Order: sequence, then C-alpha cells, then structure tokens
Amino acid sequence: MQIFKQIAPLKAFLRSTKCQGKSIGLVPTMGALHEGHLALFKTSKNENDITVGSIFVNPVQFNDPTDLAKYPRNFEKDVELLEAAGCDVLFSPENVEMYPAKATLSMDFGNLDKVMEGYFRPGHFSGVALVVSKLFNIVEPDQAYFGQKDWQQYAIIRRLVEDLNFDIRLHSVATMREEDGLAMSSRNARLSSEDRAKANVFFKGLLAGKSAFKAGASVKSARKKVRETVEVFPDVSLEYFELADSTNLNLLENVEQSERPIMCIAGYVGEVRLIDNMFLD
Ligand code: PAJ
Repeated sequence: MQIFKQIAPLKAFLRSTKCQGKSIGLVPTMGALHEGHLALFKTSKNENDITVGSIFVNPVQFNDPTDLAKYPRNFEKDVELLEAAGCDVLFSPENVEMYPAKATLSMDFGNLDKVMEGYFRPGHFSGVALVVSKLFNIVEPDQAYFGQKDWQQYAIIRRLVEDLNFDIRLHSVATMREEDGLAMSSRNARLSSEDRAKANVFFKGLLAGKSAFKAGASVKSARKKVRETVEVFPDVSLEYFELADSTNLNLLENVEQSERPIMCIAGYVGEVRLIDNMFLD
C-alpha cells in the first residue's frame, strides 16, 4: 500500500494509473477502523482496479470540540488493517494540507441537513460535504463507498454529487453490527465495558419501532415504545427517534407517507453519542 500525506504526489500517482485505464474506488474515513469500514474497502476492491482509502479526522465537521479531541485515533493499527484488506493507496493528510487557510465555505442542503443529525449537530453536514467535495476533487474516483450506518450523510452526499455534477457513482454498504446488534462505530471504542454492555439498546429500540410500525402504530406511539426500550439505564438517553422518507428525509407521522421509510435513532450512553438506523422492509 502506498501512503500519501500530500495532495500533489497523490494526484500525480493517480493520473498515471488513470492513463493506464484503471478504475478507481474511493473510501473516505476518519480512521479508528473497524469491520464496518473494512466492508466498504472489500466492496470497493471487488468493483475497482485501484482502491484509495482516506483517513482524515475532519475538524470542520465537529460542532463539539470535546468530541473532536476525544475522537479515537490509531494510525499504525489502521495501516495494518488496510494492508491486510488489500487497500492500494492511503491518503492521510495533516490539517494544513486540507485546510491551508481557515475553512469558511459552507453548504446548505435545505431540509436534508435541518433534521435529525443536522438539527442536533448544526454545521456538521456542511463540514462533511466540504471535505468529501475536496476528496472527490483530489482523487477523482469512478466510484465512492459510504455506509448505510450514516444514512443521512449518504442522502446528503447523493445530493452533493447531483448538484455539483460530480461524475462519480455512489454506493451505500449495509451496516456491520456486533453480535448483540450494536452498529460498529469508531466511537464504540470510547465506551467503558459496563457501557458497552448497554449500548445495544438503540438496536433494540429500532427493533421495537419496527414491530410497532408493523402493528400499525403512528410515529408518536412507536416513539413511546422506543423510549421505553432505550431508556432502561439511568445514564442512557434517547435524543431522537424519527421515521423519515429515505430519499428526501422528510419526517413522517406514519409509514403510509413514504414509499421507502427509514427509522433513525440517536442517543447517549454516558457521554458517548451513538446513532443507528433501519429500513422497515
Ligand atoms: P467514519 O465515521 O470514519 O466512517 C467512514 C465510512 O464508514 C462512512 O461512510 C460510514 O457510514 C461507514 N461506516 C461506519 N460504520 C459502519 C458500519 N458499522 N457498517 C458499515 N459502514 C460503516 O463518516 C465519516 O467517517 C466521515 O463523515 C467522512 C465521510 C469520512 C467525512 O469526513
């Protein structure tokens, strides 16, 4: 695996691979890699000649400075995992390489970035869209891979690609879970073993929501069931449980209002904020 910390040599390298007619898949990450990330790399490897991964803890997408400071970092282990996964190229820039000047550009996605994560983390998706746009321009991949785990992020990046005419095919890869249902996440590393044992309540909440909807419940009554399922420990709290149209992310009151609704959930176990989601079909 070739590792690049700078944009210019990475671009030069990729230019020569493109001249050879090779297709390029991009997997953007913030590191602290786990099996969920590796599923994206595996998919990209199957579908492209060259897979480029990026590891960059993007400061402009963190609205909470403590979250940024505590974000897990494990570069050496990540490199080992990517070597083993057969990743061809790793781009891991320093902050000054990505943001030589203070980032001021911001993007507005209408309803898409006002609800759920966008509501509770103002500015977050503008920061995500900025760094993803930069990565798309730097790597110019044929295809790019994102996880269903962050469905709202995926919906926003889809809009970004359409609005800015990026010639890139996007893919969303199914969420990888631990045995007890907890969605894999870099932030899980911050959970104490005691909290880790509680953390699958959000998955259980989604299952409770799903069965409530199957029984004809409205969002309001499903949310009540979900809250009862999630908030069974004093330090576990539900921040939101929503049913949304999976394309435009309009919040729904019942399942009939969308052709393909998705349930989205977020909350805290101690100080650690976790998110998850699940389609109804
Ligand atoms: P990060 O949280 O590192 O996630 C990188 C990619 O891995 C995202 O597309 C995410 O949805 C996917 N992913 C995370 N957990 C997963 C799981 N359990 N199963 C499947 N895929 C999973 O998302 C980001 O970084 C950043 O916002 C980024 C897009 C890199 C921009 O900075």
